[in-house]
Amino acid sequence: MSRIEVGYSPPLHGEVSPPPDKSISHRAMILAGIADGRSHIRNFLNADDPLRTVEAFRQMGIGIEESKTQDSIPRTQSRELIVHGRGLKGLREPEGVIDCGNSGTTMRLLSGVLAGQPFTATLTGDASLRKRPMQRIIRPLTEMGAIMESGPEGRPPLRITGGDLRPISYRSPVASAQVKSAILLAGLYCDGVTSVIEPERSRDHTERMLGSAGVDVRIKGLEVAVRGKAEIRPLDMTIPGDFSSAAFFIVAASIVHGSEILIKDTGVNPTRTGLIDIMAQMGARIELRDVRVVSGEPVADIYVRHSELKGVTVGGDLVVRAIDEFPVLCVAAAIADGVTKITGASELRVKESDRIATIASELRRMGVRVEELEDGIIIEGRRRLRASIIHSHGDHRVAMAMAVAGLRADGVTTIEDTECVNTSFPGFAEMLMGLIK
Ligand code: S3P
Repeated sequence: MSRIEVGYSPPLHGEVSPPPDKSISHRAMILAGIADGRSHIRNFLNADDPLRTVEAFRQMGIGIEESKTQDSIPRTQSRELIVHGRGLKGLREPEGVIDCGNSGTTMRLLSGVLAGQPFTATLTGDASLRKRPMQRIIRPLTEMGAIMESGPEGRPPLRITGGDLRPISYRSPVASAQVKSAILLAGLYCDGVTSVIEPERSRDHTERMLGSAGVDVRIKGLEVAVRGKAEIRPLDMTIPGDFSSAAFFIVAASIVHGSEILIKDTGVNPTRTGLIDIMAQMGARIELRDVRVVSGEPVADIYVRHSELKGVTVGGDLVVRAIDEFPVLCVAAAIADGVTKITGASELRVKESDRIATIASELRRMGVRVEELEDGIIIEGRRRLRASIIHSHGDHRVAMAMAVAGLRADGVTTIEDTECVNTSFPGFAEMLMGLIK
């Protein structure tokens, strides 16, 4: 069993480049797989989750050439892909079951594509993914005309028989980019316009990328619409660094005295950067430098210095814009002066783990007073954490967040069962240690 050990940290100094964006890597592979012709994807995330999506397309007959990228900084997380897309209808029936591993994005987005195929495919995953709710995509994709079979209560495995789909206008009960993307991808297989209306705006990478690939995409308020049966132009793109991975360093430098770091080449899409806004309210010193656009996404270098944080109250659309950053935000709250209250975050209960329960239990081990709410958490900050033995609960973001907490604990903190970190951020511990001089 792999583990990460962290001690009370001296100031963090230096530069890091976070691994490529996971969400965009999945979408790049999916769009390239159904595009007409040869796509070139640079800086694809070389981690378990997006590689599941790559494997799924191989199983469906798509030719994919890949090479590891050599960078000035040893970035084992990056690959370069050449994908020989065969058009919307070019996939073939996979032999055997498609194993999505731990990746909800693979399962939900692929379901949208499979809903439009003239064959049957089965999707499964690991023990965590098999517990996650799929009703949220089963309902709209069934309404569009796909036959969706699942385990009890809409849990995986999913057996999808695609067919002739009809366009729908779907009001989603949850703000979920995975649900939105599944419907928009299925919409590519419909005659006419398919639209999704969300309660809050979730990350918008799918609609940005579809638009760049030549699909007619319209956005009005919280509604996104696509016109189907369009040709998808092959992609030629460079994937930015993952803000959600950068988030661990943003919090680490903010809570460790004397720190000053630069996080390079990081995606700063506003649907993802809620953590910066929340941390600014807490008194953090975070600056975006050299903001530019790369392959249709805003990218910047993020300069972070230590500061004394104070507690904050968070709810509403800020939660959606920081949904994956909750574990590490709770660590910032644990060190902040005063109380932090987060509400409107019940989606956290159905992530890779029940993140409200898992982060509450692990912070308590470090001596933090925490109250779990049905849809959030209340955390009382303290100056120093108690070093302890921490469980990851098989959740990559819990593991990495707790490693960051260990930087402010009074001894050596051991995070156990950290294999899961490889789903999004191989090399995380080495990158963090590289900042400790
Ligand atoms: C993702 C969307 C979010 C996020 C997940 C990745 C995506 O999930 O938590 O890590 O790439 O679309 P939901 O759509 O379930 O909110």
